[in-house]
Amino acid sequence: MSKSTDELFKNVISHAKEYGFVFPSSEIYDGLSAVYDYGQNGAELKNNIKAYWWKAMVQMNDNIVGIDSAIFMHPKIWKASGHVDGFSDPMIDNKDSKKRYRADQLIEDRIDSYWTKIFLETGLYIQGKYNISNDDLIQLIEIADIKNAYKEGHNHKIDISKYSNVAQDFYRYIEDNPIITKHVIDLFKSYTEAILSENLSQLRQIIIDEKITCPVSGTANWTEVRQFNLMFSTQMGAVADDADTIYLRPETAQGIFVNYLNVQKSGRMKIPFGIAQIGKAFRNEVIARQFIIRMREFEQMEMQFFVRPGTQKEWFDQWKAARLKWHLALGTDAAKYRYHEHTKLAHYADAAYDIEFEFPFGFKEVEGIHSRTNFDLSQHQEFSGKKMQYFDPEVDPETGKPYGNYIPYVIETSIGLDRMFLLTMINAYEEEDLSTEEKQDSRTVLRLHPCLAPVKAAIFPLTKKDGLPEKAREIMDKLKLDFNIQYEEKDAIGKRYRRQDAIGTPFCITVDHQTLEDNTVTIRHRDSMAQERVAADQLDKIIGDLVSWRNVLA
Ligand code: GAP
Repeated sequence: MSKSTDELFKNVISHAKEYGFVFPSSEIYDGLSAVYDYGQNGAELKNNIKAYWWKAMVQMNDNIVGIDSAIFMHPKIWKASGHVDGFSDPMIDNKDSKKRYRADQLIEDRIDSYWTKIFLETGLYIQGKYNISNDDLIQLIEIADIKNAYKEGHNHKIDISKYSNVAQDFYRYIEDNPIITKHVIDLFKSYTEAILSENLSQLRQIIIDEKITCPVSGTANWTEVRQFNLMFSTQMGAVADDADTIYLRPETAQGIFVNYLNVQKSGRMKIPFGIAQIGKAFRNEVIARQFIIRMREFEQMEMQFFVRPGTQKEWFDQWKAARLKWHLALGTDAAKYRYHEHTKLAHYADAAYDIEFEFPFGFKEVEGIHSRTNFDLSQHQEFSGKKMQYFDPEVDPETGKPYGNYIPYVIETSIGLDRMFLLTMINAYEEEDLSTEEKQDSRTVLRLHPCLAPVKAAIFPLTKKDGLPEKAREIMDKLKLDFNIQYEEKDAIGKRYRRQDAIGTPFCITVDHQTLEDNTVTIRHRDSMAQERVAADQLDKIIGDLVSWRNVLA
């Protein structure tokens, strides 16, 4: 992370705390690693993100319904889904520090550091040759393409002939640096092989060969690599034996799979149809990093779309496009997003893409779109002994007969609510310089989409006397039926504006002496800071128009 992006990220984290968005959990007891609490503004923003997702997925699609299944589920579910045997990370312990690490992460960090060094050296050479600044170089999309291609291990697929001279030279310089470049390409290959074949001793050997040391003890005194299951377990009932062990769900999806026939029958749903849910998931992540990106308790918004076998590719493409559209409708710069195709597919999937967002620390997955075949439903049929088939009465034009009984295929869209929250904060955060020739000035503003803003409008009486507070409260009492409104009378108006800018409030409404005479108020817009005088009776329309879901969903 460069200094400025590192600083930006740190500033967003402290802003989130200072303004009541996110607090470390159990802070007075020095916190609980990788667990966070959402404060008064965070809870509102999170609820608005959920509402946006729920509206787009459930209420805008007449063939999708939403459920809310329990976190505790029968333990056999996790056996059937493969989580008991397969939901694990390869871990390695340092014998001196007794610290535990993810073996794959140690190697990936090493590969990353090689690339950082190579790209830095190449960048310096190109800057010198073409006399361009580092910032301009970083802006070049082709350079970013080349870097990504190397990092993803398919550099030789790049056709550089269509690139500018700068990019071509950038590529050649890396290729002409054979010792280090070949070493890191070979390392990436051997690492990918070890991961794909789940060869734990090969992973350990790479760590030894690369002389990777423990950041705490500084030694390479490593244990064997072992698989470590990420599910939290607990006991249900008074007697602690194996039969009572239950798990905190590591994904919400299984609650949908096991209810799919209940929903289908009670809702008379016809394929294709979807079931959506928002809820907590738990994973005992060994390495928790990057604030709310990797948490041990987090929230997912998942939708399983049940389709006729053979049509999954077409639905997969449709959902892949629809989900990116949902992200972009918030006005985010499209260049901040990209798709990432999974090369290593989970055992149940026949296609998978991530939607990634460019965080200050690089592109990271926010959402996954997975074609999960009929794996989960088939497994539940086998483990529960209950039929998971759907009877499709529609006539197959090829045979002239109904499609009949089958286990549907499933396309899943799964987005992490906390990652979406962080993305939204980072995207909105701006330290704006407002200095003029006369004076230095600045503000921190969250340019949140008005639909997502925690507070839609703040009402300020100009002074605390002359009946202005009473009038302001009277206006607020009407508006609060439809919107989340805040009342503030403390400090000068300028200070109150700054506090609202910092939490992303789109409108500030000032009630002054003129209001008492003609029932007009000043309304100040967050982004432009422009002010206008409007009739108080117009406020619900002005606010309503700006925060309406129509702006993102129509
Ligand atoms: N049902 C599929 C599933 O759970 P996943 O890729 O493991 O797929 C889906 O998770 C999304 O959940 C991710 O794209 C990410 O946004 C979020 N997520 C996963 N693990 C997380 C964690 N430890 N902390 C925060 N969010 C997480």
